Amino acid sequence: MLMAVSDLPLRRTGRGKVRDIYDAGSDRLLLVTTDRVSAFDVVMAEPIPHKGAVLTQLSAWWCGQLEELGPTHLISSDADSIIPEIPELAPFRDSIAGRAMLCRRTTVFPIECVVRGYLAGSAWKEYRISGTLAGEPLPAGLEESSRLEPPIFSPATKAVSGHDENITISEMRRLIGDEATSQLEHRTRAVYERARVIAESRGIIVADTKLEFGRNNDGDILLIDEVLTPDSSRFWPADGYKSGRQQPSFDKQPLRDYLEREKAAGRWNGEAPPPPLPPDVVSATSERYRLAYRLLTGTDLTLTETW
Ligand SMILES: Nc1ncnc2c1ncn2[C@@H]1O[C@H](COP(=O)(O)OP(=O)(O)O)[C@@H](O)[C@H]1O
Ligand SMILES: [Mg+2]
Repeated sequence: MLMAVSDLPLRRTGRGKVRDIYDAGSDRLLLVTTDRVSAFDVVMAEPIPHKGAVLTQLSAWWCGQLEELGPTHLISSDADSIIPEIPELAPFRDSIAGRAMLCRRTTVFPIECVVRGYLAGSAWKEYRISGTLAGEPLPAGLEESSRLEPPIFSPATKAVSGHDENITISEMRRLIGDEATSQLEHRTRAVYERARVIAESRGIIVADTKLEFGRNNDGDILLIDEVLTPDSSRFWPADGYKSGRQQPSFDKQPLRDYLEREKAAGRWNGEAPPPPLPPDVVSATSERYRLAYRLLTGTDLTLTETW
């Protein structure tokens, strides 16, 4: 079932660019990942087939892989386990199948924990201009897509609207305190180190990723939100990697390329409303998301009619 917005008989507590968030009891949330896609911070009008299921099932798979490194918010991403917990959802099985995640509710740290093992995107842009990343100097002579050893933890604020802003670690300390800052940095690095070894064994470079953490009522820090998906990470094919240029990536690159062409042609000003997406861009984007899942997990996402 292709879904741009969900409508479940629970209290909706939020709607992000991609997810609808519902109250599922005092200490639980139901995160419903729709098929909405955003690029350049603008949500497209057309949903991307299977995207919600890919993001949900990939996050759940990673939560399993990363279990030993600390608690995560995942309770279940299987509709057949979620429905007995929330019986009101029984008539809505098709809406939640594959795409809903029952999770532990936390108070979210207002920080995007970004870790970069390669110099790309906004980090490359800043480095090229000033030789720094979030204001901190980096070694001279790095190229676009150069490997960063050790990886760099480069937090950003979670902007309520508009673009996230890179901050220094001292700014992060001021925002959430010394203790939480060092725990989040430590957890982020540990997750990245583990994830990149797993991904590398499957021929994928995790160039960078963004993690979120929250604290539950017991004071524990949980890894939350989406985990190592194509929306939160840059995945590059290891085969053919070469620094000094951009790399092809397993994410919404076909969509970004299309939007760049529309901008260059003067048909789009970069703000909402976005231009309509041609069917081949929608299907190429859908195919990329599914490919990322297949390569990382080694199995095809079993796509049912309802997903
Ligand atoms: N376990 C959790 N507890 C509380 N909030 C969470 C949890 N997991 C994810 N969230 C929040 O749910 C939202 C997910 O929606 P999303 O569409 O990804 O939002 P955004 O547009 O901000 O990226 C995010 O604001 C995220 O911080
Ligand atoms: Mg998000």
